[in-house]
Amino acid sequence: MNILLTGGCGYIGSHTAISLVNAGYDLILLDNFSNSETCVIDRIQKIAGKPIIFVEGDLRDSNLVSKTLKDNNIRGVIHFAGLKAVGESVKNPIDYFDNNVQCSISLLQAMIKNNIKKIVFSSSATVYGIPQYLPYDENHPTSAINPYGRTKLHIEEMLKDLANSDPEWTSIVLRYFNPVGAHKSGNLGEAPKGIPSNLMPYLVQVASGYLGALNIFGSDYGTRDGTGERDYIHVTDLAEGHVAALQFMFREQGWHAINLGTGKSTSVLELVHTFEKVTNKKIPLNLTSRRAGDLPAYFAKVSKAKNLLNWEAKLNLEDMCLSAWQSRKISIHE
Ligand SMILES: NC(=O)c1ccc[n+]([C@@H]2O[C@H](COP(=O)([O-])OP(=O)(O)OC[C@H]3O[C@@H](n4cnc5c(N)ncnc54)[C@H](O)[C@@H]3O)[C@@H](O)[C@H]2O)c1
Repeated sequence: MNILLTGGCGYIGSHTAISLVNAGYDLILLDNFSNSETCVIDRIQKIAGKPIIFVEGDLRDSNLVSKTLKDNNIRGVIHFAGLKAVGESVKNPIDYFDNNVQCSISLLQAMIKNNIKKIVFSSSATVYGIPQYLPYDENHPTSAINPYGRTKLHIEEMLKDLANSDPEWTSIVLRYFNPVGAHKSGNLGEAPKGIPSNLMPYLVQVASGYLGALNIFGSDYGTRDGTGERDYIHVTDLAEGHVAALQFMFREQGWHAINLGTGKSTSVLELVHTFEKVTNKKIPLNLTSRRAGDLPAYFAKVSKAKNLLNWEAKLNLEDMCLSAWQSRKISIHE
């Protein structure tokens, strides 16, 4: 069965591609390489052990997307493509609405034209905003606190309206928590362009000597050790969650929001100490002031994913840290 992955050469898309090939799906990847490299295609093919169809282009080109859907007899779409840096979205909000919301409109128009009504969408825990209670369950009120989060909420709501307008639509909105780690081969990983804005790739660059020290933004929160707590999930577990979501999508209808996390919170210091233990590297730290917009702590309620998808995360924090470190040769752009 042919599935289109938008943004399929990015961090989560490339790992999901491996899990989907292993599960027997045929894939078409579409990417404009705004945040990935062409060499990822070879890496995916090498690990998957088979050729993958790839289309270079921008999702806002609805004619290209429509042609790709038609020529490849696509049955369903996983929509990863988007910009994802919160700080950048505050500085350039219109770029985020253009790239994230406009991309999604263009994709959905092309899907409607080709009568394809099955989509899995990469959303984020950021749509929950300031926690009214924890763990966040899927019924927690949504209220994004930055432009990035608002683009995710807009897209979620468009998908809900679409599902309400036509019962043949199925939209699975996956709300990711904090994906980290890399494929066990060490040949795929998180390879952001420029200075990483996420914790794990930053840690890897400090441990490799490319960056001097890790800045910890806030050590006076009311958390276990004063640093922020997040629900880190291994990207391989997340990838497997997409296989389960796709199977669910083809047997269900309507709009469904589902958390993908581990249900456990880990502080920045706990993550750093685990990283130091598995890599045998000492990480220099700078404890600095809190960053505007950061939440003290949040983590997922994961029972809906278990009940609906029969999926749960299996890998632990040591697996996450070790795999991120083992992929350093491909995740650092020199
Ligand atoms: N990584 C995280 O921490 C995280 C957490 C929650 C949600 N998400 C969401 O998951 C999705 C994937 O995240 P990721 O970490 O793999 O990001 P990523 O930047 O590694 O991958 C996104 C891919 O989409 C491509 N892309 C972007 N705009 C495009 C466009 N207009 N046309 C075609 N391709 C385009 C990029 O080149 C990149 O390869 C994103 O939508 C992101 O918002 C990520």
